[in-house]
Amino acid sequence: MYFFKDRFMTKDEVRISPDDRGYYFGDGVYEVFRIYGGKLYEKEAHMRRLENSARELRLPLPYSLAEISDLLERLTAQSELDEATLYMQITRGEAVRSHPFPAGAESVLMAYCSEVDRPTRAMQSGISAVTQDDIRWLRCDLKTLNLLPNVLAKQKAMDHGVQEVVLHRNGTVTECSASNVMIVADGMLLTHPANHLILHGITRGVVLELARGLGLRVREEAFGLDELLGAEEVFITGTTVEVTPLVRIDGQPIGSGEPGIVTRRLQTAFEATFSA
Ligand code: PDD
Repeated sequence: MYFFKDRFMTKDEVRISPDDRGYYFGDGVYEVFRIYGGKLYEKEAHMRRLENSARELRLPLPYSLAEISDLLERLTAQSELDEATLYMQITRGEAVRSHPFPAGAESVLMAYCSEVDRPTRAMQSGISAVTQDDIRWLRCDLKTLNLLPNVLAKQKAMDHGVQEVVLHRNGTVTECSASNVMIVADGMLLTHPANHLILHGITRGVVLELARGLGLRVREEAFGLDELLGAEEVFITGTTVEVTPLVRIDGQPIGSGEPGIVTRRLQTAFEATFSA
């Protein structure tokens, strides 16, 4: 079941115009929601981020936030999926190809749910990553459809036979291709501050709150590649990866080369936020 241009339909019925600015320019915003037990997880936080991305790109939302929220709920209910993700994007609409905002175009919303299992194995054993220059623009806080640098980064991981890429600007670690990254160093949990250089991950926010609740020392402070590679523990956070340990980076084991104790505690605490 899809939602496209004001109504629910099957995938076969969706007709995307070649003039859609999402197609020409990547001119749009998106969100990926997790569905646990048939319910949208952290819906309000995703809606706030969507509103912010759209406002900063001067992209008119096609419906009110309350209406969008309601249609996402209906899509989730109709999909009848227990463990799933909901993808939603809004583009600036259809117009002949010309860079300035088109007059009179109407934003187009498309959304659908897919059955996606939780990444149980990766969370259990941890995954490997490589590091790479962060070549993205300076508004990484906006969740836009322009994902070519992320796509290239992820492909580099695949080419190296690993699962993720840790990005850095001149040696300062920012985030990963589709997740945020945190380290435990000298008993302190560190992650890049939520500014224009990273996506303000919803999972990142939940995990930081849980960490503080567990009495861990937490700092939203940038750290370098040396601290990353020398950390006691490294893990990534995101809607699709939850809390996944990075146990090997650039071929070097992190800490003991096994998921660490802080990571395990946070995994347990995270799971409790939706399986209560
Ligand atoms: N990506 N950083 C980047 C660059 C991301 O693309 C994502 C999520 C995150 C984590 O954010 P959150 O916790 O809100 O999912 C961080 C989604 C899942 C994607 O593009 O598929």
